[in-house]
Amino acid sequence: MKDYFKDDEYWRVHIDKKLEDDIWIDEYKKYFSNSGKCLDLGCGIGQYSQKFINYGYDVTSSDISDIALTKVKEFNNNVKKVDMRDKLPFKSNEFDVVFANLSIHYFSDIDTQKLMQEIKRILKRGGIFVGSVNGIQGYTAIKDTAEEIEHHYWLNKGKYVRLFDKKDLMKYLNIFEIIEVDERETVRFEHKKNYFIFICKK
Ligand SMILES: C[S@@+](CC[C@H](N)C(=O)[O-])C[C@H]1O[C@@H](n2cnc3c(N)ncnc32)[C@H](O)[C@@H]1O
Repeated sequence: MKDYFKDDEYWRVHIDKKLEDDIWIDEYKKYFSNSGKCLDLGCGIGQYSQKFINYGYDVTSSDISDIALTKVKEFNNNVKKVDMRDKLPFKSNEFDVVFANLSIHYFSDIDTQKLMQEIKRILKRGGIFVGSVNGIQGYTAIKDTAEEIEHHYWLNKGKYVRLFDKKDLMKYLNIFEIIEVDERETVRFEHKKNYFIFICKK
């Protein structure tokens, strides 16, 4: 079977499409010191990397996609090709902020737990892990085509997808100090969807 993101199927199709415009990070600015090192995990074409650069961070933009990273290089030379299912290629205690917007919900339970441990390892003590994940309401959009592989983890049209309820999210985040978890609703492709924004501390 094809590996949807590794084979760059996503960005081959989406690279010239309009991106989401509900960029939420400015609402959480109080949590950031505006200097130091920030890792954008699964950065895509870097709409949030750009935000953290503007805040004053030294940003490493990482993704599995060559197509996306080529685009990011137009404004940030500091890019790193990374597969989040592997050990992260960064030193322990390296980052002040690790950021992951809608990019850590494609993995099995084991890989998600390993990723959380890796994020904790590369964060400095007191560092912030911030991001968002899609919520369980998104199931209505895939229910006719998706095959459940694990609890709240599906294979849908060749793409693995995990959808979180609050309990799932807390289970993965509980190795951090959880500061804030906010649930929001939106409409995407005519389907109501919810997502969670989280802020944690090491
Ligand atoms: C929905 S996009 C979000 C992009 C970006 N964070 C944003 O908010 O615009 C998900 C991103 O995760 C990346 N991704 C998916 N699986 C990955 C993996 N195993 N390792 C690294 N990045 C991955 C995709 O290439 C894609 O850029």
